[in-house]
Amino acid sequence: MSADTPSSGGGPRKSLHPVPAADRTAEESGSVGLSGKIALVTGAGRGIGRRVALDLAARGARLVLTSRTSEQLEKVGAEILQGGGAPALVVPADVSSERDVDALFARIRDEFGQLDVFIGNAGIGTFGPILDFPLSELDRIFATNVRGAFLCAQGAMRMMVPRRQGTIVHVASVVGFRGYPRQGAYTASKHALMGLTKSLAKEAAEHGIRVSAVLPGGVDTDLISDARPDLDRSQLLQPEDVSRTILFLLSLPERAAIDEIYIRRRTSEPF
Ligand SMILES: NC(=O)c1ccc[n+]([C@@H]2O[C@H](COP(=O)([O-])OP(=O)(O)OC[C@H]3O[C@@H](n4cnc5c(N)ncnc54)[C@H](OP(=O)(O)O)[C@@H]3O)[C@@H](O)[C@H]2O)c1
Repeated sequence: MSADTPSSGGGPRKSLHPVPAADRTAEESGSVGLSGKIALVTGAGRGIGRRVALDLAARGARLVLTSRTSEQLEKVGAEILQGGGAPALVVPADVSSERDVDALFARIRDEFGQLDVFIGNAGIGTFGPILDFPLSELDRIFATNVRGAFLCAQGAMRMMVPRRQGTIVHVASVVGFRGYPRQGAYTASKHALMGLTKSLAKEAAEHGIRVSAVLPGGVDTDLISDARPDLDRSQLLQPEDVSRTILFLLSLPERAAIDEIYIRRRTSEPF
């Protein structure tokens, strides 16, 4: 059932504490209505970010799509329209560039004047033993996964704090709390992202803003084929599994907050 569909059966419930229709529907159905909400997804051109953008748009959000590759973003924008979603704002940007990120948030401010949901998803990984891992690659990974996430979090907070509302979700990784061989630089960057997320969550809470992290195991995207060529692709998570987890976070009632969710391949080891 879509969040905009009235719940059926039983007639209207009487409540001593009535909540707005959109919230009531989300609480009752566990789904999320995002009508009138402005949502920014970084890394929206493919993989997890693309799926999240499509799913948020399908629930009524106006999307701002960003990554470095405009053609991919335009394609996702077209898919959103085909699915009946509102036209997305496409702003190509490199999240590691302060100038690009400033320009991105300036566009959002000019076009919409508000930001309700920020999904910090853009990320890269290259893999190999620490022993001879090129420092230039370490710097490139940190520039996107840490500096980029930091810059975007600043931009999102600057828009959300004055309105005292908003939800931020960072897409971290299982390597945000575990270590794997051949993933030293990527793992260090995702641990750093978790550090940023934890501090951000505390600062944001003072302003009425919720911050969560989603930490997926292997997801069937371009990134994983390089990181874990050993994995059977048919057993990987799919981007929609991560997207569904993010939608769940967005469906929480105002009184609830979840700090982090680790979602793993079922065939991987529990805990
Ligand atoms: N796949 C997995 O197994 C897995 C597991 C756990 C966590 N994650 C995380 O999930 C997120 C999405 O990854 P994915 O698997 O969907 O990979 P993907 O298919 O390679 O997508 C990555 C997205 O990030 C964008 N991006 C990369 N560098 C950027 C930059 N400097 N500025 C702006 N956008 C940039 C890419 O677009 P451009 O290259 O066009 O800029 C692309 O849209 C990443 O943070 C990743 O670490 C992935």
